[in-house]
Amino acid sequence: MKNTRVLIVGGSSGMGLALAERLLSEGAEVTVAGRSRDRLAAASRTGLRTARVDVADEAEVRALFHASGELDHVVVTAADVTGAYLPLGEFPLENARAVLAVKLLGPWLVAKHAAPVLAPGGSLTFTSGIAAYRPSPNSSVLAAANGALPALARSLAVELAPIRVNVVSPGWVDTPIWDTLAGPAKHERLGAMAARLPAGRVGRPEEVAEAFLAVLRNGFLTGETLHVDGGHRLV
Ligand SMILES: NC(=O)c1ccc[n+]([C@@H]2O[C@H](COP(=O)([O-])OP(=O)(O)OC[C@H]3O[C@@H](n4cnc5c(N)ncnc54)[C@H](OP(=O)(O)O)[C@@H]3O)[C@@H](O)[C@H]2O)c1
Repeated sequence: MKNTRVLIVGGSSGMGLALAERLLSEGAEVTVAGRSRDRLAAASRTGLRTARVDVADEAEVRALFHASGELDHVVVTAADVTGAYLPLGEFPLENARAVLAVKLLGPWLVAKHAAPVLAPGGSLTFTSGIAAYRPSPNSSVLAAANGALPALARSLAVELAPIRVNVVSPGWVDTPIWDTLAGPAKHERLGAMAARLPAGRVGRPEEVAEAFLAVLRNGFLTGETLHVDGGHRLV
């Protein structure tokens, strides 16, 4: 990945940050983008380039790629799960729109504005998730967004070819997203899931980063979804 130019939207935390650090260690030129200036400042202290963007805002996404210069790979790991887990009858439409704006239309906006600056043979990679494949109650909109991302990638893999478009779909992975999802019950919830999984534990961000890296490296892979879930879809 030496001298490869990579931009990761959502790369200021969790698995996006793990991927950014891994790419940096391989000599890539890596920019992470997100909303929180504190998170971006922390990322910049590790040698990463940073850019502020709200992936739900088209003007900001357009400006991000106007300023980025040519890129080899773009990855989207952004998700905001605030207000995303509610019973259907209590789910406000505005929450549903907010989830879709970041998790589904965000990657679509990124594809729209990144495509003109992606090098031939470059790639776009989105992040789906286990909620689409082993749904639990109260996650209807997130499940729908995750389920739609492989279809979006297959469609764009045809439309944007030879740019490759793929999806990585994680199972439960110990990242800061669980502080929002479970608060103080985080370790208890992750521990209970670990006991159910064939892998016997939840995932580490670095393991999902490995999957992204495999997708970025493989020039013959497009329109594909790679599951990294410790066997979650089997149980
Ligand atoms: N961890 C899991 O167990 C798990 C399971 C299945 C799927 N996933 C998926 O994996 C991906 C990465 O999750 P993670 O666990 O690494 O989460 P994380 O640690 O919370 O990181 C999410 C990143 O997205 C950014 N972000 C959120 N809203 C954004 C917006 N509107 N515009 C730009 N950036 C935004 C966040 O930064 P700011 O808040 O500063 O913007 C942060 O950098 C997500 O798509 C998630 O749905 C995770």
